[in-house]
Amino acid sequence: MTDSAQQTPYTTDNVGIPVESDEHSLTIGDSGPILLQDHYLIEKMAQFNRERVPERVVHAKGGGAYGTFQVTNDVSRFTKAALFQPGKSTEVLVRFSTVAGEQGSPDTWRDPRGFAVKFYTEHGNYDLVGNNTPIFFVRDPQKFQDFIRSQKRRPDNGLRDNDMQWDFWTLSPESAHMVTWLMGDRGIPKTWRNMNGYSSHTFMWVNAGGERFWVKYHFITDQGIDFLTQEDADRLAGEDPDVHRKDLWQAIDSGNAPSWTLKVQIMPFTDAADYRFNPFDLTKVWPHADYPLHEVGKMTLDRNPEDFFVHIEQAAFEPSNLVPGIGPSPDKMLIGRLFSYPDTHRYRIGPNYTQLPPNRPHSVVNSYAKDGPMRYEPANTARPYAPNSYGGPAASPQFGDIAGWSASGDMVREASRLHREDDDWGQAGTMVRKVLDDAARDRLVSNVSGHLLNGVSRPVLDRALQYWRNIDKETGDRIATRVNGG
Ligand code: NDP
Ligand code: HEM
Repeated sequence: MTDSAQQTPYTTDNVGIPVESDEHSLTIGDSGPILLQDHYLIEKMAQFNRERVPERVVHAKGGGAYGTFQVTNDVSRFTKAALFQPGKSTEVLVRFSTVAGEQGSPDTWRDPRGFAVKFYTEHGNYDLVGNNTPIFFVRDPQKFQDFIRSQKRRPDNGLRDNDMQWDFWTLSPESAHMVTWLMGDRGIPKTWRNMNGYSSHTFMWVNAGGERFWVKYHFITDQGIDFLTQEDADRLAGEDPDVHRKDLWQAIDSGNAPSWTLKVQIMPFTDAADYRFNPFDLTKVWPHADYPLHEVGKMTLDRNPEDFFVHIEQAAFEPSNLVPGIGPSPDKMLIGRLFSYPDTHRYRIGPNYTQLPPNRPHSVVNSYAKDGPMRYEPANTARPYAPNSYGGPAASPQFGDIAGWSASGDMVREASRLHREDDDWGQAGTMVRKVLDDAARDRLVSNVSGHLLNGVSRPVLDRALQYWRNIDKETGDRIATRVNGG
């Protein structure tokens, strides 16, 4: 970008017309009124007024980079997806983010981190839009909007509000596992390079013989997990709010390309029917002992975007971008997300957003789409309809065998009847008792009490203490002692 600007001998306006001055407006006399015919001044002001697109409604603050995904292990018996075939290498774009904060918010606020990967495959873009957590706060897309509103700002005073957060969480016990995660060490990673990424959702893989499997993805950091204490995070929020964005950019710029090893848990298709809990419930992990990790490949990020706005701000990830060999699962949250992302992109960056550089597939696009605002690729065919007898592209049934699963029943609004006995506290309790060590448990108690002591009202506070006792009695009692000043 800088180089080509240096090569241009003179400034031009946006259509290449040479510009006379970047300092003085055109006026009648040196102190006279500015003339409407100063087109360049008007272009400058108007362009400036339109520099922003709306920020993402969630995950507004982030950063990212390009790189490569290299397959290192043969998983072709589980999926025919071209990008996962032996020896294959695929370009990727990855964007990391926080969830609740706005564009300028500090990178070190306690929040899940987005971990969105776009693979530019030979069969089109495949987007894996995950987080640094293998689970989530809610299990039905009906609750996502309410959840997010409880984490963002109040409409009356424009402030974030811990009372609102705990009010929602304690009225939604399915959040317990994720809240435990969030309040633990991994709730504030040291850098984006020091965190794992997870699909969180279960997806379907289909092999060349049409055999189906359920999978969960785990991107395990090769830099090692590391975290910030609440105190360090608070300090950094003031000293350098962009510390994570800067860290990634500087690491890549200095040739220290971060990488992640992709592993998957694989569940045979028929196991799902009688697994001991709902394997499609986004608030639960599959224990490693039941479904161990299989290595797939390595993802390395080695190219910074040449223009942050063009490549990162305009990046549009969508869980609905699924390529042959990969399909959705019955996870209701995932199915809700299949609608939401393309919808928000059309609003945020316009209906032709797939033509923008970060979103443009690296494979052939043979769609019948045409027209619309800001379209610059010509229509693919002069006969924009199917079927047509003028050689237009034809759909390919051989790619359609990711059909899915069978379902039948009455129309209802309720949780899975098969899994009525599933509980919300068990896996959160396992994390507290079996995964965390004493020091991590101490930090958990301190983080939760600090959060609860910051503006949470009495009835909500009492519910929060019970919530923690449900997760783990001892931890709940310790938090209660701190909060009640014992
Ligand atoms: P395992 O002992 O096999 O797995 C425990 C996993 O916990 C580790 O592999 C690690 O995941 C993760 N972990 C370690 N420290 C922390 C921490 N401070 N905060 C959050 N996660 C941490 O047991 P199970 O598979 O039976 O899972 C037990 C519990 O571990 C679960 O209830 C869940 O809370 C948590 N967990 C499980 C994961 C899974 O997919 N099974 C993934 C992550 C957490 P990693 O290797 O991915 O870093
Ligand atoms: C961003 C909706 C759940 C990960 C977004 C955006 C929306 C959205 C509207 C903004 C996208 C943009 O403007 O580009 C939803 C809905 C959900 C849901 C409706 C549930 C029903 C989840 C879950 C995860 C997740 C469960 C992780 C497993 C992300 C990430 C981004 C994002 C990583 C940022 C993508 C980027 O970097 O551009 N979500 N989301 N979301 N969401 Fe979700």
